[in-house]
Amino acid sequence: MKKKKSIMDRIADSSKSFTTGIDEKDIKYWVKIYIMGKAYKVPAGLTIMQAMEFAGYRFIRSAGCRAGFCGACATVYRKSGDYKLQTAMACQTRVEDEMFLVQIPFSPADKAIYDINKEQYNVNVLLKHYPELARCVACNTCTKSCPQDLEVMDYIQDAIRGDFEAIADKSFDCIQCGLCAIRCPAELIQYHIAQLARRMYGRYGTQEPEHLKARLKEMKKGKYKDGWDKFFKATAKELKKMYAEREREQD
Ligand code: SF4
Ligand code: SF4
Ligand code: FES
Repeated sequence: MKKKKSIMDRIADSSKSFTTGIDEKDIKYWVKIYIMGKAYKVPAGLTIMQAMEFAGYRFIRSAGCRAGFCGACATVYRKSGDYKLQTAMACQTRVEDEMFLVQIPFSPADKAIYDINKEQYNVNVLLKHYPELARCVACNTCTKSCPQDLEVMDYIQDAIRGDFEAIADKSFDCIQCGLCAIRCPAELIQYHIAQLARRMYGRYGTQEPEHLKARLKEMKKGKYKDGWDKFFKATAKELKKMYAEREREQD
């Protein structure tokens, strides 16, 4: 006899598609949320993304990894009785009663085009490509908006001083969701500035590791050619088997 799925399994399934398959009578706790101004009753405990799917929305934008890494599911919301506008990743944040939600597709932001090999390793490169950097009023709104809890204002101050290493370190976990930029009163694009700084630091501020140079030399000599050939000729089934049986680092 087919084993009946637990309610948790069925809720988890709701992550996989816009059809939830959840039977209302199985749900004990509900919350009321508003999506683009329209009220919905959804099971408590779902993420914003799952709740929107439960309500019948299908994500064709603003969703990617569903695991907090890709930065696609930026969400703005306000809770009833709270004046604050909150920001979050929809796949990582659970719904709460009386949440007013707005899902925002990636907002347009100016991205500088540059050739990293032709740039000078000093603060001017950041100001040249992102002159708005000088407009930061140190309000800290970007830090408060960041779903990754990064010290965004701090790395912007580091950018003003031209401390590439500090920016690279503080912005390392940025997922480029854009939430800091949409809240910035000075209209900075913090994540692009940080990306340029990380690239500059990687290109000019760090030494090429010896083991990487040695590995590149081996690759040029064709040491891994047979392995790559095997990999590219493999069928989907063979690839899955190779993935399941791959060598893994011990914890
Ligand atoms: S939100 Fe903008 S102006 Fe405010 S601290 Fe951040 S970068 Fe500066
Ligand atoms: S720094 Fe900005 S773009 Fe990066 S994760 Fe934080 S809010 Fe998102
Ligand atoms: S879908 Fe990738 S961070 Fe939410």
